Amino acid sequence: MIEDRVVSPEYDEEKDSPETEINLRPKSFSEYIGQEKVKENMRIYIASALSRNEQLDHVLLYGPPGLGKTTLAGIISSEMGVNMKVTSGPAIEKPGDLAAILTNLEENDLLFIDEIHRLKRSIEEVLYPALEDFNLDIMIGKGPSARSIRIDLPKFTLVGATTKAGSLSGPLRDRFGIIHRLSMYNEKELATIIERSASILEIEIDNDAALEIGSRSRGTPRIANRLLKRVRDFATISQSTSITYEIAKDALNKLEIDEYGLDDIDRKLLITMIEKFEGRPVGLEAMAAAIGEDKETIEDVYEPYLMQKGFINRTPRGRIATRIAYEHMGVKYNE
Ligand code: ADE
Repeated sequence: MIEDRVVSPEYDEEKDSPETEINLRPKSFSEYIGQEKVKENMRIYIASALSRNEQLDHVLLYGPPGLGKTTLAGIISSEMGVNMKVTSGPAIEKPGDLAAILTNLEENDLLFIDEIHRLKRSIEEVLYPALEDFNLDIMIGKGPSARSIRIDLPKFTLVGATTKAGSLSGPLRDRFGIIHRLSMYNEKELATIIERSASILEIEIDNDAALEIGSRSRGTPRIANRLLKRVRDFATISQSTSITYEIAKDALNKLEIDEYGLDDIDRKLLITMIEKFEGRPVGLEAMAAAIGEDKETIEDVYEPYLMQKGFINRTPRGRIATRIAYEHMGVKYNE
């Protein structure tokens, strides 16, 4: 199961340890590290909406899992001084579910829909007039006597989050006035996040230790925070009052996370491409079957990072392992 991986960006930590995860989440832009361009622009849009006494335009946040889309939505709501209601694409099963959510909103509320690309088309259609004119058109009755009635909704802001902006329908995407892509964090930003989290968790950490954890966190704060907690466990049992570079390195090696942040499943993926498929382009389905993971997980979770690091390339005929992947896996690369 992907959720069991220490480096899985999808694992929902809140279910595991609600207090720490919530405490680690920044609550304002001033506490939020990285994504400078997004912060800079959002600050302007928020200040401008506040000065006009209007709700903020609808916002679409997209990017790989674990980069802080939910956190950012929470910050937007607190900086706007409004309440946030949270739901997700798969949780809204029928148009009536969405109608219930929309009619329960209060003026200026922020509605956060996670995984918005998974909304069904029939439900998206309910959303269009709600986003555009704050109206809800609902059908009453069935057959020849059916009629549609229109309900006024309070003015609200939708913040949609998705890992797959490409899967969003054109009409839905067009209804977002503000669209931001979150990018992966660099090692320094991750180290700063780790140092901030360590101070909230009341454990000392050396700067080189924070950088070491950061460099193995796959560009993702959620993974950085999780690794920090696991490394803290090793520090605790070795009765160290602080996380030193040696403790961090030793703990990460024991967790089998290599210097690129790859775990055993990533390595299995690369070695399968190299050995089983002998370096030929591999289709997503064949890959999924060979390593026993589902296609979506490979596409959304493993590939973005492996591609970003240059271990695999996508070609029209499939994925191929690069020279860097061969070198990393200790296999000779034949041109
Ligand atoms: N925790 C998770 N993401 C964060 C971020 N971007 N800044 C600070 N702390 C975080």
